[in-house]
Amino acid sequence: MRRKIVILGSTGSIGKQTLEVIQKYPNEFEVIGLSGWENITLLKEQINFFKPKISVVKNEYLAKKLKKDLNNLSDIKIFWGIDGLIKVSVLDEIDLVVVAITGIAALLPTYEAVIHRKNIALASKETMVVAGEILMKEAKIRNTNILPIDSEPSAILQCLKNEQKDLVEKIILTASGGPIYSLTESALKTVSIEDALNHPNWKMGKKVTIDSATLMNKGLEVIEVKWFFDIPTNKIEIVIHPQSYVHSMVQFIDGTILAQLGEHDMKISIQFALFYPNRIYNNFNRLDLTKVNQLTFKKPNFNKFPCLKLAYQAIDLGGTMPAVLNGANEIAVNAFLNNQISLPEIPIIIQNTMKNHKPKLNPSISDILDADYWARQRALYLCTNQ
Ligand SMILES: NC(=O)c1ccc[n+]([C@@H]2O[C@H](COP(=O)([O-])OP(=O)(O)OC[C@H]3O[C@@H](n4cnc5c(N)ncnc54)[C@H](OP(=O)(O)O)[C@@H]3O)[C@@H](O)[C@H]2O)c1
Repeated sequence: MRRKIVILGSTGSIGKQTLEVIQKYPNEFEVIGLSGWENITLLKEQINFFKPKISVVKNEYLAKKLKKDLNNLSDIKIFWGIDGLIKVSVLDEIDLVVVAITGIAALLPTYEAVIHRKNIALASKETMVVAGEILMKEAKIRNTNILPIDSEPSAILQCLKNEQKDLVEKIILTASGGPIYSLTESALKTVSIEDALNHPNWKMGKKVTIDSATLMNKGLEVIEVKWFFDIPTNKIEIVIHPQSYVHSMVQFIDGTILAQLGEHDMKISIQFALFYPNRIYNNFNRLDLTKVNQLTFKKPNFNKFPCLKLAYQAIDLGGTMPAVLNGANEIAVNAFLNNQISLPEIPIIIQNTMKNHKPKLNPSISDILDADYWARQRALYLCTNQ
């Protein structure tokens, strides 16, 4: 029987690549729901090809426009807004939800999907950052899986697949360093939006690409990995590996290091999450190690990229602090993309927001949403009053 699947964020970079994988296995998956947000032109094409029963867009206006663009012929239901995202994520008939929405917007649909016993393939690291403890606990109680799509936690999952977790000495998370790692601190002050978006190895959405440039992406992954694998952050180390072929590593108590390597192709980790625990043949490009000149690893510069420190601080303070880190970061990244602040001002905004927050420990989902809202207001104020 085909697995019934919903893709949240199907019009984004991960969403499109997920559909490419699914298209290769028509006997394995039936697409029941697709959510886009503003890009209804692409969503219409996806609907015409995959014929889902339900789709979700940002608002009622876009829902009506999409229905009209589909010539009112399709009997597809089109929902909108956060309520629509939740409705499609908890449908009785589905068993897998791929979450590929950027930012905290993915939190409530993911949480509700877990509560309704759906399996999750999660790309949206922000969701794990703000509420990883709650999500993993609820998934365990309900006997469902939350599996990573992100290449680094996917690499760790693959290294740990046949191993005992209590024999792990440390996790070694690799970071490409992003597009501007080698610039001097003074050159970072004037880096342009175009340069910050010009990632050397991966083609991704804008928000995650800027996070790669500030190294906040790696900081968010430290928190993501802590919750995915229940590993304390003092056992999670970051190394700069500009070639990005080693997607991450696990070191065991006997000194052995297992690594997962592969091409720069997110479809590999997407496929791994969709078929877990099985490994399935594909014809994607193979990594030819004889053509790789060198693989280098070095310690990250925490002073030049303070977002890394802030992420470790936020998770160590715990409770609602990671939600504040994440909310302030989303606002600051947006302000940088709108030419309001410079790249090095992003960590300053985040730090000043965190300074004013007293974290609430053992937070509920609603505490997390409150902290996120507060952080956004504070960070917005700081962005306009720098
Ligand atoms: N791209 C990668 O290679 C990569 C790798 C690892 C992890 N990730 C993670 O995967 C997630 C998605 O990244 P991406 O690069 O695919 O992002 P993206 O290309 O910007 O796509 C984002 C998707 O979410 C939709 N969306 C935007 N705002 C929304 C909102 N408020 N509510 C609901 N849907 C919304 C967008 O719809 P419209 O475009 O129709 O407006 C689009 O479908 C991020 O958390 C990122 O960190 C990405």
